[in-house]
Amino acid sequence: MAFVDKMVTNFISDKAKIGKNVSVWHFAYVGDNTELGDNVSIGSLAHIDYDVKIGENTRVEGSVYIPPLSRIGKNVFLGPAAALTNDPYPMCEKMVGVTIEDGVIIGARAVIKAGVTIGKNSVVAMGAVVTRDVPENVVVMGSPATIRKTREEYDKKKKEWLES
Ligand SMILES: CC(C)(COP(=O)(O)OP(=O)(O)OC[C@H]1O[C@@H](n2cnc3c(N)ncnc32)[C@H](O)[C@@H]1OP(=O)(O)O)[C@@H](O)C(=O)NCCC(=O)NCCS
Repeated sequence: MAFVDKMVTNFISDKAKIGKNVSVWHFAYVGDNTELGDNVSIGSLAHIDYDVKIGENTRVEGSVYIPPLSRIGKNVFLGPAAALTNDPYPMCEKMVGVTIEDGVIIGARAVIKAGVTIGKNSVVAMGAVVTRDVPENVVVMGSPATIRKTREEYDKKKKEWLES
């Protein structure tokens, strides 16, 4: 029915700090004191809780879950339904955020343990369960995720695929 289109909406807290040219798609949620840098894009049904920081040019795909205290850098890609966590032993009032450094790529439905840091330019494969810190410039896969490639190898394979 036509009126349904007019009800499509999202929620962005008045206390959130939103940069220039930011897109927040349908039914996404952005909580209090969260900061979205310039050119950030947030997909439909994404849940970005309070006290989260996301750097410029980062793309958050649909259904991603980002809990309070998460720190996400610039030029990051968070694939569909990726889940960051902040409570290792629910339900507990003590929380610790995940840190995702600049240039990281997180595949679809990957899960990141509370307190883990994903190093600059690393890649987390789709479906990976990341239980430990990941160094810079590597590709991790599996559950629990282990290092399987370098970022250089990933970039080479991507280039070959684009040119094929
Ligand atoms: C990590 C990734 C880049 C690896 O791709 P790739 O280099 O082409 O890997 P290949 O398909 O050649 O597989 C290499 C090996 O890794 C395994 N593998 C690939 N992806 C895997 C994954 N997500 N989890 C576990 N193992 C994986 C393969 O089974 C294969 O194992 P084998 O050597 O024992 O046969 C890719 O799987 C991935 O996760 N891409 C992200 C996709 C995504 O989420 N996009 C979001 C937007 S839609």
